[in-house]
Amino acid sequence: MNSELSQDIDRVLISRGQLQSTVAELGARISRDYAGKNPLMVSVLKGAFIFMADLVREITVPCTVDFMAVSSYGKGVKSSGQVQIIKDLDTNIEGRHVIVVEDILDSGVTLSYLLELLRARRPASVRLCALLDKPARRKVPVQIDYRGLTVPDEFIVGYGLDYAEQYRNFPEIAVLKREVYEKHS
Ligand code: IMP
Ligand code: MG
Repeated sequence: MNSELSQDIDRVLISRGQLQSTVAELGARISRDYAGKNPLMVSVLKGAFIFMADLVREITVPCTVDFMAVSSYGKGVKSSGQVQIIKDLDTNIEGRHVIVVEDILDSGVTLSYLLELLRARRPASVRLCALLDKPARRKVPVQIDYRGLTVPDEFIVGYGLDYAEQYRNFPEIAVLKREVYEKHS
């Protein structure tokens, strides 16, 4: 494994193999449910970019993709509760079947805001697909239609997830060493 990156990793929570089979299962379920519906996959940047790339390749029905960027975190590890749209969709979603693809559902603040915003644009339907669920930290209830794995209440990185924009390229989901945060705070 890439040693410069793995130096900062305390332990791996979810391996490549587990990620692969989880994503394949989600893709198979979506493919079954959306036959003939040509869904629009909406990914929330940046954290979900790797999950999105892997997920759409497991979807066997026609679909299109679009991206949004929102921010609620700044550089820290705790949500500020403020949601900002940094990049909106290019697609008109009126009448479309939309699937929002998220990396992790934490407080739910970002997602509940986003889902409300999308529903106001009169799509045919909106569902949520989240690779990871961290239920311990939920502040706002959000229905997850396609849930990958449940994770404990720890800050995790890798497979798209960052700490201060770093570690997105670590191929597994991992917990950082404590001293990494202490260096930055
Ligand atoms: P929420 O509004 O608190 O649910 O924020 C969700 C967003 O926060 C996710 O899309 C992630 O980008 C980020 N996030 C939440 N938990 C973690 C974590 O453990 N590691 C890295 N990013 C996280
Ligand atoms: Mg993020």
